[in-house]
Amino acid sequence: MSKKSKPARPPQGSQKLGVVILAAGEGTRMKSSLPKALHPLGGQPMILHLLRTVRLLKPDAVAVVTGHEAKQVEAALKPQAPLFKKLELICQTRQMGTGHAVTCAQNFIRCFEEIMILCADTPLLGFESLWQLLQIFRNQKYQVALLTARLLNPRGYGRVIRGATGDILKIVEELEASPKELNTHEINTGAYCFQSPSLLNICKTLTSSGAKKEYYLTDAVQLLRSQGGRIGAWICPNADEILGINSLIQLAQAERILSRRTLENLMRIGVTILDPMQTYVDSTVLVEPDTLLYPGTILKGNSKIASHCQIGPFSFLENTQVGPHSVVLYSVAVEARIADHAIIGPFSHLRQGSSIGSYSKIGNFTEIKASRIGRATKVPHLAYIGDAELEEEINVGAGTITCNYDGQQKHKTIIRAKSFIGSNVNLVAPVTIGHHAVIGAGSTITEDVPPETLAIARPRQIHKPKKK
Ligand code: UD1
Ligand code: CA
Repeated sequence: MSKKSKPARPPQGSQKLGVVILAAGEGTRMKSSLPKALHPLGGQPMILHLLRTVRLLKPDAVAVVTGHEAKQVEAALKPQAPLFKKLELICQTRQMGTGHAVTCAQNFIRCFEEIMILCADTPLLGFESLWQLLQIFRNQKYQVALLTARLLNPRGYGRVIRGATGDILKIVEELEASPKELNTHEINTGAYCFQSPSLLNICKTLTSSGAKKEYYLTDAVQLLRSQGGRIGAWICPNADEILGINSLIQLAQAERILSRRTLENLMRIGVTILDPMQTYVDSTVLVEPDTLLYPGTILKGNSKIASHCQIGPFSFLENTQVGPHSVVLYSVAVEARIADHAIIGPFSHLRQGSSIGSYSKIGNFTEIKASRIGRATKVPHLAYIGDAELEEEINVGAGTITCNYDGQQKHKTIIRAKSFIGSNVNLVAPVTIGHHAVIGAGSTITEDVPPETLAIARPRQIHKPKKK
């Protein structure tokens, strides 16, 4: 970062728009071992929200500057690469401030005429705001355009200081601001558009400064101004969008904002949500119209709920698909599939690999794991079904257990169509029950049961005279 510099020019044939996302910071204020960019928000690592918004801008390339726990952050970013024309990962080995992070991306910046800089910790920025920023930057031919916002409570943000005529003079960080400057309500969101040559020049002139002895990107504004550069801003009208996440308290605020957005989007398309304050739906979840979400519903990951379902009250579904007209009451389902017209719960637990057929019923205190439950089969009470295949129209009595584990290996239970399993039956796997079979209550079945057979495997009841 030498002081003297020649004006840099983008090489011939440079492309138009490059986006640089700063994600190298340690996130000290999060007080967490997880890198800030990977903290989950709406069910996804925080940084993926911004990447999704950036994609809509259709930039020629995106660079993410990583540093703290770079490997972890890069692993989360790599699957995103095919979604962009070009996604580059740049490492800032020592975190010496936002200005230094941008300097690390100089070779990338050189390839573009325009550079948009964003911070990974402002995940709620909307496409419209970034687009408006880009438009004002392009139309007014500014050297830099800032995305700013006017906040009632500007605490924690850099303040945008304007002159008497409204010109932007500088950005001052809170730690260095005078009492008068602290009273400014216009803040820097950390999103900027730069003309690439101006930014490259500025990178050479930034010095470490301020209370933290860091290279502040925000100093670029004053430096550009001192060189006669034109500086503008787009004031974001939606204060919710610009939330910068530095702490877990702010992460919870962002979660609330995002959740409200997600729920409002669902309500707009016809999903009834009785109490949005008590309903949590990840932004990655799909819910179809005419479905009703009761309070206490938590839908996570890649869950997909078809139309005309009732979910909740108090149900947790993660990566679970539910077909139309199904009901899930007070239940937990993870990595499960529920077909149409099924009734789950109250108090059922569907574990990984459970597939519940149409018109079937899984009832009170029943646990299903890695099992297929056929159409119109009922397991209504107090059962454990693991590693099993139950065909159609079977009735499983209360207290039935598939004994799938011999202490070393898991074994399979197969129950053919239209069988009737009496209450309190142990099915010691591997075992197959033929179709239309009936198993007497209280039996412990260790051998295959042929079709259309009654099997009873329990001691005969005996009657003796009572001792006097
Ligand atoms: C920054 C701005 C502030 C603005 C606020 C908006 C500066 C100096 N201040 O402050 O004006 O109001 O964002 O939310 O820019 N980062 C790196 N490498 C580093 C340091 C940070 O990549 O060496 C990344 C972080 O991972 C983060 C972003 O830059 O994504 C912003 O850093 P952070 O420390 O959170 O800056 P703020 O103090 O919030
Ligand atoms: Ca921040």
